[in-house]
Amino acid sequence: MEARVAVLASGSGTNLQALLDDEVVGPRIALVVSDRGGAGALDRAAAAGVKPLHLDPADHGSREAYDDALLDLLKTERVDLVCLAGFMRILSPDIVRFFEGRMLNVHPSLLPAFPGARAPRDALAWGVRVTGVTVHLVDEEVDHGPIVLQEAVTVEEDDDEASLHARIKRVEHRLYPRAARLWLEGRLRVEGRRVRIAAEVPR
Ligand code: GRF
Repeated sequence: MEARVAVLASGSGTNLQALLDDEVVGPRIALVVSDRGGAGALDRAAAAGVKPLHLDPADHGSREAYDDALLDLLKTERVDLVCLAGFMRILSPDIVRFFEGRMLNVHPSLLPAFPGARAPRDALAWGVRVTGVTVHLVDEEVDHGPIVLQEAVTVEEDDDEASLHARIKRVEHRLYPRAARLWLEGRLRVEGRRVRIAAEVPR
């Protein structure tokens, strides 16, 4: 059976789009879940013929109740791989543990530098000359799990947060589908904090 992928997104969904557009990853995306009703990601899912689901925190009394509903949904949909693509909620340990080794996140910095929700702004404020993109497996700490792929992005003299984040996103759109494909091809092996990538098997 082909693996089923869920993408969780809160925002415009440009990373979701990159995943949808990938010829290996796209056809395996079974559903897109957002905590925000107006998220562009839900429109992108619908446009691609993928089930868009708004799971509204207002309908669930607590963070635990929300996460229970989310985990139930992902189980019901028999999801194998979860891709976080700008999902602005911290997930409960239950969900993270259930999907151990099966949940990816894309982050706009070279982790462990600049974790958190404002990485491009923080990189500019620090004055670094180089930042970048990290795709990592999700563990119970935020922006922390074993790193699958990274790529550097140079900070230009005249960058502001918007211009830097836009350049970072262009790299994300290339790196994230590649990492998801590696997972789907069974080529990732986790050894402690290191992720080993097996060579492509020639067809
Ligand atoms: C990306 O920069 C991603 O790294 C971060 O959230 C942003 C989502 O952007 N986690 P988009 O909604 O995919 O355009």
